Amino acid sequence: MTLLVYNIGQLATAQGQTSPMKGEVMSQITTMENAAVAIEGKTFSSIGSSEDLLAEFRGSDAKLLDAGGMGVIPGLVDPHTHLIFSGSREFELRLKLEGKSYMDILNAGGGIIHTVSRTRAASAEQLSNEAKQRLNRMLMYGTTTADAKSGYGLDTETEIRSLEVIRDLEHPIELTPTFLGAHAVPPEFKGDPSGYIDHIISDMLPMVAERGLAQYCDVFCEEGVFGVEDSERLLTAAKEHGLKLRAHIDEIVDLGGAQMAAQLGCETTEHLAVTGDEGIAQMAEAGTVGNLLPGTPYSLMSPIYPRARDMIEANFPIALATDMNPNCYTESMQFVMSLGCYMMKMTPAEVLAASTYNAACAVGMEDTVGTIERGKLADLVILDVPTHEHIPYHFGVNHVRQVIKAGEQVVKDGLPCYNG
Ligand code: NIG
Ligand code: FE
Repeated sequence: MTLLVYNIGQLATAQGQTSPMKGEVMSQITTMENAAVAIEGKTFSSIGSSEDLLAEFRGSDAKLLDAGGMGVIPGLVDPHTHLIFSGSREFELRLKLEGKSYMDILNAGGGIIHTVSRTRAASAEQLSNEAKQRLNRMLMYGTTTADAKSGYGLDTETEIRSLEVIRDLEHPIELTPTFLGAHAVPPEFKGDPSGYIDHIISDMLPMVAERGLAQYCDVFCEEGVFGVEDSERLLTAAKEHGLKLRAHIDEIVDLGGAQMAAQLGCETTEHLAVTGDEGIAQMAEAGTVGNLLPGTPYSLMSPIYPRARDMIEANFPIALATDMNPNCYTESMQFVMSLGCYMMKMTPAEVLAASTYNAACAVGMEDTVGTIERGKLADLVILDVPTHEHIPYHFGVNHVRQVIKAGEQVVKDGLPCYNG
C-alpha cells in the first residue's frame, strides 16, 4: 500500500550524510519546494515534485495525504529524556524563585531524591501510564524516536522495573533504553557515592546487561554527585558488559568529564553547559556527539547555556534534546529548537540538523531515521507553517498538524490517532 504525501510547500531535510554533521556541514539542509513523498509500507520509496508524483500515482490505489502547501520535516528525534518517573515537582519553582540552587534542593532531600521516593512507590502500570501521557505529548509535538532513561529508582528493583516499563511500552515512538542507575546517591548510600557505584557494578549492571534491558549506560558526573573516578569506574564496567556509553557532564561544574568521556569513547555527552575549549576539542577529536539541553539552564534560571557556536566552529557535532524530567519538564523539541536559536545563536538549519540527523546519530539510529530519504523509515511531520524556519521563530506554540511514523499516520489534525 502506497501513501502519497503531496502538496508540500517546502520539504526540509538533511540528505546523504554518513556521520554526525559538524562545522559548516550542520547548515546543509536540503529544501525542496512543491514536493511530494511516496511511502511504501514502512519506508520512503520516492521523493520528488508534487506534480510528478501525483502523475505517477494517478489511477493507482495510493492513499493521498494533502500537506496543504505547508512545510514538512523528518520526524524529530529526542536523544535525551528521563521518561520514567512518577509525579512532578511544580513546588520547586517557588524554591528556585527564592534563590535556591539545584544542588541546595537536591542536598535537602528534594530534586531527584523526591522523585525517587515517588517512583519507588509506583507500580509498573502506573509508571507506564505516566510515561504514555508524556509520549503522547512528545508525539503531538513531532517526536517519533527518543532515548528513554531509568534513574529514579536507584535500587535494583526499581531500576529494573523502570527499564522493563520502557521495554514493554506500546507506543509509536521508538525508544532506545538507557540505564541511569548512577543518577544520584540514594539515601541508603548517603555520603558514600563510591559504595553506591560498587553496588551498581556488582548488582545492577550484570542484571541489566544479562536481560538486555539497556543499550546505553549513563552517569551524572557532577560535583556533589559522582566524581570523575567513580564515573569512569562505572562506565568502564558498563563497556565490559557490552553497553554503549553516555555521560552527563559539565552541567554545573567542569570536573574534567569531557576528557574522561573522550578517553572512554562515550557515544554521547550530555549538557556541556560549562565545558571549556579543551573539553570541546577533546570530544571533537574523539568523535563523541554532544547532546545540548538548553531547556535545563532555562528551567534552572541560569544564564549559562552551552557554547554551541564555539562547538560548531570546533567541528564538534552537536544534537539537541529536551532532557525531559521533573526539573526541566517539557516534551517539546520545538521549544528546544527555539532555545537553540534564541539562546545559543544556532541557525534554523543547524537546529533542524541537531534535532533530526544528529539526534538520530545520538541514539545510534542514523541508518534508519532522522532524514527523509529513500529507504529510510517513513517518519515525517507536516507543519502548520510553510517552512521549518517558523519552528524556532514562532515559539511557545505547537506547529505540528500530522505525524507519520514508519508509514502510519499517528497524529491527525494535532491529536494522536494511532491504534492501541
Ligand atoms: O539531566 N542532571 C541530572 N539529571 C537530570 C535532572 C533530573 C532531575 O532533576 O530530576 C538532568 O538535568
Ligand atoms: Fe538528563
